[in-house]
Amino acid sequence: MEVIGSPKPCNEVDAEGLAIAVFKDEKANNGLLKTLDAAVGGMIADVIESEEFTAKQGETAYFHVSSKSLKARRVLLIGCGERSSYKAAQITQMAGTATRFLRSKNVKTVAIAPRADGDAEKVAQTAAVGAVMGLFELDKYRTSDKEKRELKSVTVVIEGADKKAVQRGADRGRIIGESTNFTRDLANEPGGYMTPTILAARAKQVAKEFGLSIEILDQRQMEKLGMGSLLGVSRGSDEPPKLIILKYEPSRFRSRKGELLALVGKGITFDSGGISLKPGENMELMKYDMTGAATVIGTMRAIAQLKPSVPVLGIAPCSENLPSGKATKPGDILTAMTGKTIEVINTDAEGRLVLADAIAYAKKLGATRIIDMATLTGAVTIALGDVNTAILGTDQKLIDEVIASGTEVGEKFWQLPLDDEYTKQIKSDIADIKNVGGKKAGTITAAAFLKEFAEDTPWAHLDIAGTAWGDPATPFRSKGPTGVAVRTLVEFIERSAQP
Ligand code: BES
Ligand code: MG
Ligand code: ZN
Repeated sequence: MEVIGSPKPCNEVDAEGLAIAVFKDEKANNGLLKTLDAAVGGMIADVIESEEFTAKQGETAYFHVSSKSLKARRVLLIGCGERSSYKAAQITQMAGTATRFLRSKNVKTVAIAPRADGDAEKVAQTAAVGAVMGLFELDKYRTSDKEKRELKSVTVVIEGADKKAVQRGADRGRIIGESTNFTRDLANEPGGYMTPTILAARAKQVAKEFGLSIEILDQRQMEKLGMGSLLGVSRGSDEPPKLIILKYEPSRFRSRKGELLALVGKGITFDSGGISLKPGENMELMKYDMTGAATVIGTMRAIAQLKPSVPVLGIAPCSENLPSGKATKPGDILTAMTGKTIEVINTDAEGRLVLADAIAYAKKLGATRIIDMATLTGAVTIALGDVNTAILGTDQKLIDEVIASGTEVGEKFWQLPLDDEYTKQIKSDIADIKNVGGKKAGTITAAAFLKEFAEDTPWAHLDIAGTAWGDPATPFRSKGPTGVAVRTLVEFIERSAQP
């Protein structure tokens, strides 16, 4: 799908359908709404005045029109709530609602007027991201009832803006939106179609297509490196583990010499819990336990095209977590690459085990800052639901920068504390640490475990277990993988490339 940025007046944009943002208490008697209202013979004023449409967030009103002064034959009003709270998240949702709604009406070319103040390039980017993300569907494996309709083009309209700037924003937004959908697609694949080997192959394709370097460590190489923690998880499975290492290197460096950001993402392609088997209910959802890895690959896919002037490593430890006669048992002791010994209390706390060696390996490769992301704990859903992603870590500046990047793109993060006292909960009687810290503060003790491997390298951890999967669908998003954090990480990386 083509994504175009246009500075033309809305009524002159060549598209079958035009979607425009409308705010609470807005009347059709001035500005853009007035022009459109005149073009459609007063129908917009009608629905607003009759209060048929009150511009509540997500509300829509849809018209077929035929007017010489408006190119589009269909107009969609999208309620956006209060203008004062119209920020990146609302712009993204507005644009997603526009493409989802108009596609369902078999419209092929869509113009979107987000009507936001501020930097035109940024607004165009934000709307383009939403427009592309709105089109993601879960129906890949359906043979009937499939969404066959497709948009040919989306034009983001920012009237009067600089033409080049709007197009730049549209291009960047398309790249970020497509990369987020790429992450969502990987996350949605069932375990049978998404083994560590297949995930590594997908990462290879991305590297080849967009020019990243890639290395994939196999089991023997990991054995040589002493990654006993990661290998302890994969032991129960017939599928061999993989450690994916992607590298983006800019042609022009703006970072201080030696600085290297590493993104590390949990890649459990199916989490049955292992010997500490999970209950059957909802276990099928554990196909998305590789979303952290998918987020890393999607983010690398985006920055390979956006080309910020800082180097970035993307590391994804990938394994299945299954029970078998070879599987690690509760009570077993694993030795991580760093030499630390870990008593496995519960084989279902496997994410931290694969991340431990991956974080240590990121340091070995020279990472000076680490951000890991993982569907790590059910406890985070109890604490924050599906609204905020938990963020914890050892470096407040890094954490603040991630949160600020999230705010900029409309993704929410909430910091949980990580005081030293929590580390007591993961002390083991017989090994250095254990992989479960008891019932209390489950999300924090999981992070406390990772901290043992990040050590003094500035580090932030994102627990995306609650936010990576959306249910139910909304007007702007299908049910299923949300692609959370890709946008934030891209923004974070681009900010760190600013002089
Ligand atoms: N993959 C799960 C966490 C999870 C739960 C992700 C629900 C998405 C939705 C993780 O491996 C896990 O099983 N964690 C355990 C840890 C416990 C044994 C300490 C959990 O949260 O119950
Ligand atoms: Mg588990
Ligand atoms: Zn898991």
